[in-house]
Amino acid sequence: MALHDLSWRPSATRPDAATAAFLADATARIDAFFEERWQEPIVGFVPSDFDRLWPALAALQEQSLAHGTRFCEWGSGFGVVAGLAAKLGFDAHGIEIEGDLVAAARELLAAHGLSVKLTTGSFIPPGGEGMARIKAEMAWLLTEGADGHALLGREPTDWDVVFAYPWPGEEHVIERLFDRYARPGALLLTWRTEKGARLQRKR
Ligand SMILES: C[S@@+](CC[C@H](N)C(=O)[O-])C[C@H]1O[C@@H](n2cnc3c(N)ncnc32)[C@H](O)[C@@H]1O
Repeated sequence: MALHDLSWRPSATRPDAATAAFLADATARIDAFFEERWQEPIVGFVPSDFDRLWPALAALQEQSLAHGTRFCEWGSGFGVVAGLAAKLGFDAHGIEIEGDLVAAARELLAAHGLSVKLTTGSFIPPGGEGMARIKAEMAWLLTEGADGHALLGREPTDWDVVFAYPWPGEEHVIERLFDRYARPGALLLTWRTEKGARLQRKR
């Protein structure tokens, strides 16, 4: 694998008032969504811990770790991480397979004036399904769906930063896909339930 861990310092900068309001609203809307959908949950959707993720996202910008500004959240859920990236000046995108989540994300982001390009589709590039199809383990990762990169008018090699929150213990699936399809020099930021943020660069 051509991924290596990057040394980075968590940012000490706190989110500004507008960002804190965005995060509070996101949390309220996600709670309401879970409440409404308790009989029909989207099992794959578990939000990141946005407050704990913020120091890593802010570090990307403050320490100029990325080689460019194009950011994509793979499996974007409510689009909160992509929204934070937009606030930090990234050209933010999100690919999410569940249309109801994309609709909810669009409403949230519009309410806070955040420009994020979202699409309903799969972040698994055509041909990559085999690398992701581990049915027994993969409750959260769906391997069907239109190519989300193409729907955004992009290629998987266009992203300077990819963020994903994989199911615990299945980070290797995202890492394998990123290793195969991302451009050299691109960054992979993952959220891991127990261990927090991990930042890797493709050589
Ligand atoms: C663990 S949730 C993380 C949501 C969001 N990124 C966050 O951090 O709050 C993973 C998301 O990936 C979506 N997903 C699963 N398979 C996908 C695929 N092949 N393409 C796009 N999204 C997918 C799920 O519907 C779910 O919303």
